[in-house]
Amino acid sequence: MNEPRPPGDDSAEGDVNTSPLRREFEAAHLHGKTRAMLAADADVFLHQSLSTPCFNAVASCDGIWLTDVEGRRVMDFHGNNVHQVGYRHPHVMAAVKAQLDTLPFAPRRFTNAAAVDLATKLAALAPDPLGKVLFAPGGTLAIGMALKLARLATGRHKTLSLWDSFHGASLDAISIGGEAVFRKHMGPLLPGTEHAPPCDPGACRFSCGGTCNAKCAEYIDYVLGKEEDVGAVIIETIRCTDVQIPPPEYYRIVRAACDRHGALLILDEVPICLGRTGRMFAFEHYGIVPDMVVLGKGLGGAVFPMAALVARRDLDIAADRALGHYTHEKSSVGCAAALATLEVIENEKLLERSQTLGARSLERMRELKRHHPLVADVRGIGLLLGIELARDGAPARREAEQVMYHCLAHGLSFKVGQGNVLTLSPPLVITPEELDAAFTILDAALSAVETGSR
Ligand SMILES: Cc1ncc(COP(=O)(O)O)c(C=O)c1O
Repeated sequence: MNEPRPPGDDSAEGDVNTSPLRREFEAAHLHGKTRAMLAADADVFLHQSLSTPCFNAVASCDGIWLTDVEGRRVMDFHGNNVHQVGYRHPHVMAAVKAQLDTLPFAPRRFTNAAAVDLATKLAALAPDPLGKVLFAPGGTLAIGMALKLARLATGRHKTLSLWDSFHGASLDAISIGGEAVFRKHMGPLLPGTEHAPPCDPGACRFSCGGTCNAKCAEYIDYVLGKEEDVGAVIIETIRCTDVQIPPPEYYRIVRAACDRHGALLILDEVPICLGRTGRMFAFEHYGIVPDMVVLGKGLGGAVFPMAALVARRDLDIAADRALGHYTHEKSSVGCAAALATLEVIENEKLLERSQTLGARSLERMRELKRHHPLVADVRGIGLLLGIELARDGAPARREAEQVMYHCLAHGLSFKVGQGNVLTLSPPLVITPEELDAAFTILDAALSAVETGSR
């Protein structure tokens, strides 16, 4: 269903924040206090796509819930993917508060226990030969470190990544990223950043039709063979924005292609690591191990900006170069939050929970597909869920937005990816009852949009 978008449609990464439907939502639902805050926000911040103007103002958060400044609560099925353990998880909050009271910052050149413990834990969780770690205060920065390390390790500066991908908003990250909204009118990007078509099962550009022949993976092999000097292939293991789940053979072929042509495989799991897909690392679904994996977002326990590069042990080759060198590189508070988050994931068996509740969600989504002509496809892995809307065979972008605003007004927040995919990523601590309540809201929203009663 991913047809070319009309000119000027920048809906790739998220929903459009200047649309007429947004204005309607504001007029109907936002009142004095919120409007004043949004106006102050618009006054003081530099405006940018996808985040200005904001659509509401939050006052507090707890578990799966956001509370806005007018006291309304919504279930947060977006949360920028930081909230695997929910907001203000008591174990995470206690660890952060304890760290704040003792060591709120560790200057560079000093190590600290939380940082060493977290790196040790991540190295132990990651399969061999992964095992060396570097932290950064954000996923984009960790991607940048991976790109530098790949250059140093291979002596090659070229990269191969995928159209429609997102790896962060800095100049190096948008150079390998594949979304027009970030790349256009930015002037020259990094040289040597080749792109290949993404694996979008269901909308295959290689005419694989109903049976996937993994032609897009073979195309990666083809490009690596043609170019000969690509240093790294960078892919989101599963594209989060619209939940594109490659078939099992995809990564077997990509891994073999990288090995054959001497390119390192870097997997970006910034939004989908730590249980979102039902596994600690999403690549575990595919039976391969990358040369580097980049983690972020939920690593900071919905408190702190934390990201990590976990690389093959033998890639510890850059002792005389700066890969990261970030002021908050080994944040004692961030590392304490991350360690506590990993403990919560283990103690509360959130991987299993993600799998079980994911299966329950898929059932509900298949039911939605049976009852709603607007639902063209449903897909999910763990608690990363996508509902694709189409009308007359074309992406139903306007309807997706209508469904989103209807849900928002009835207590459920999520994001629309690629213009027509309702992307749902609830906290893994959600209860089955809360999950059911969310699907009831969605069901009603789809009915309202289909009957025009919205
Ligand atoms: C796949 C992916 N990679 C990288 C990033 C960048 O992470 P950050 O915003 O923490 O810099 C994001 C953020 O949304 C992402 O989704």
